[in-house]
Amino acid sequence: MTPRQLGDTAPEEFRKQLHQLADWIADFREHMHKMRVAPNEEPGNIRAQLPRQAPENGESFARILSDVDGIILPGMVHWSHPMFLGYFGWTSTAPGILAEVLSAPLNVNAMTWRTCPAATELETVVVDWLRQWVGLPEQFGGVVYDTASVGIMHALAVAREQAAPATRELGLTDRNLPRFRIYTSDQAHSAAEKAAIALGIGEENVVRVSSDNQFRMDVNSLGRSVAQDRQKGFHPMVVVATVGTTATASVDPIPDIAKICEKEKMWLHIDAAYGGGFAIVQEHEWLRDGWDMADSVVINPHKTVFVPLDFSVLYVRDLERLRRVFTLVPEVLRGDTIEGEKNYMDYGIQLGRRFRALKAWMIWRSLGHAGIVAGLREQIRLANLFSEWVERDERFELAAPVSMGVVCFRWVGSARCADRAPQRGVPIRADKLDKLNSDMVERINASGRAYLTQTKLRGQTVMRIGLGNILTTEEHLQKAWKLIREAAPSPLSS
Ligand SMILES: Cc1ncc(COP(=O)(O)O)c(C=O)c1O
Repeated sequence: MTPRQLGDTAPEEFRKQLHQLADWIADFREHMHKMRVAPNEEPGNIRAQLPRQAPENGESFARILSDVDGIILPGMVHWSHPMFLGYFGWTSTAPGILAEVLSAPLNVNAMTWRTCPAATELETVVVDWLRQWVGLPEQFGGVVYDTASVGIMHALAVAREQAAPATRELGLTDRNLPRFRIYTSDQAHSAAEKAAIALGIGEENVVRVSSDNQFRMDVNSLGRSVAQDRQKGFHPMVVVATVGTTATASVDPIPDIAKICEKEKMWLHIDAAYGGGFAIVQEHEWLRDGWDMADSVVINPHKTVFVPLDFSVLYVRDLERLRRVFTLVPEVLRGDTIEGEKNYMDYGIQLGRRFRALKAWMIWRSLGHAGIVAGLREQIRLANLFSEWVERDERFELAAPVSMGVVCFRWVGSARCADRAPQRGVPIRADKLDKLNSDMVERINASGRAYLTQTKLRGQTVMRIGLGNILTTEEHLQKAWKLIREAAPSPLSS
C-alpha cells in the first residue's frame, strides 16, 4: 500500500493545507484579542458537541479545522490572549510558534545520542546557555524535562539515593531505614508532596515550615523543625527552597537555608520554576544568591524564558549523580549508547524524548540575551505600575510585596477607608470581604474580557495577576484595572 492509501496526504495537497494552516495561525494571532479570554460554558457542553465514538473512516482536514473553529476555540481559555492575566502568564511568541511547527515534521526520539545526535547535542548546548545566563557554576549539568514537578521528583530521587544508598537496587522496604524528611515553606508548591508520594517517602514526611510576613521561609522555624526531627530519630534529607513562590513570587533566604543544609548534611533543592528566569536580569541577580551552594535547581523556561510549553530544566551539581540513579540500558538499545556522549534516557525515567531543545534554541536565538532581558524588564515594569495603581486607590491594598511579574491585591472598600476616615463606614466582616473579592474575580472571568486568578494568603482571599505574555501591553493592563474597579462593589452595597 502507498502512504496515501495509508492516510498520508499527497504532497501538493499537503502544501496547500500547510499554507492554509499558516494563514489560520497568523489570523488567530492577529484577531485573538477580539475573542473572549475564557469561555462561559457549563461543564459537558463541549463534549456534547462531539461524537461519542471515534470516526470509522478518515475525515478531511477542512472538516477537522472547521470543528476546531466551531467547537474547540470557543471552549478554550486563551492563555495567549493579551487580557489573560491568570496563574503565571507565560507567553506565545511568533518565533516560538515557528519552532513548534518546525519540530513537528522531524518527530525524532532523542533517547540516545545515536538516535538523534543533533537533538542530544543541542540539548546540552541550550541547557548550558541558560546555566550561564543565570550564573550557575560549571559543575552544574542540566537535563530537559516537561515540567518542574518531574524535575523535582528526579532531584529528590538522587537525594534519596544519597541518604539511603542502594535504594535504586533494593527499594526502601524491609531495610530498617529511618523516616526521611523533606522541608519546604508553607508557600511552596505541592510538587514536593507529589515527589514524596512518587518516591515512597510519603506525603506526611514533607514538613511545611512557616513563612515570615513577606512569605519567605522562616529560617529559625526550619532550624527548629530539623532539630525536633533529629530528636525523634528521623532523618532530615532535603530542603526545597523556592525562588518565586506560586502565590506571591516570594523568594526564600537561600544563603541562610544553604548554611543549615551544609551543617545538617541535607540536600538543597531550589525550586526556581518561576523566579529562575528573572535571575537573568542584572538588577535581579540577587535572586541567585546562594545557588552555588545548592545540589539541584529547577527552572521553567516555559514560564519565564519565552519557550513554549513544555520545557523545564533540572540542574544537578555533578549530573553524574543523577545518571547513576537512573541509567539502565535496555538490551535493544545497547548498541546505540555512545559512552563519550550523553544519552539523555540515562537521566530520568523517561525513555522516549521529543526534540524540545529545538524550540529553546530557536526562540533564544530569535530574541537574543538582550531581547530576553528586555521582555523580563517589561513584565517587572508593568507589575510595578499595576501595584502603583492599586496603592493609589484607597479601596484596594497590595496583599504581598511585588518583585517579579506577579501582583496580589485585595479590595478592602470601606474597611480601608474606615482606618483612614472612620466616618466613611464600618469595617466589613472578614468572610464577607473574602466573598466580595472572590466574586469580583468570578465576574470578570465570566465576562470573557479579562482573566485573573484568586488565591488565599494567610487565610484571606486575594486577587492576583500574573504578567508574562509579551502581547500584554500597558494599555491592556489599564483596561484590566478599569474592569477590576468597575467590578468592585458600590459604596452602598459594601
Ligand atoms: C513555584 C512552582 N514550582 C513548581 C511548579 C510546578 O510546575 P510544573 O507545572 O512545571 O510542574 C509551579 C507551578 O506553577 C510553581 O509555581
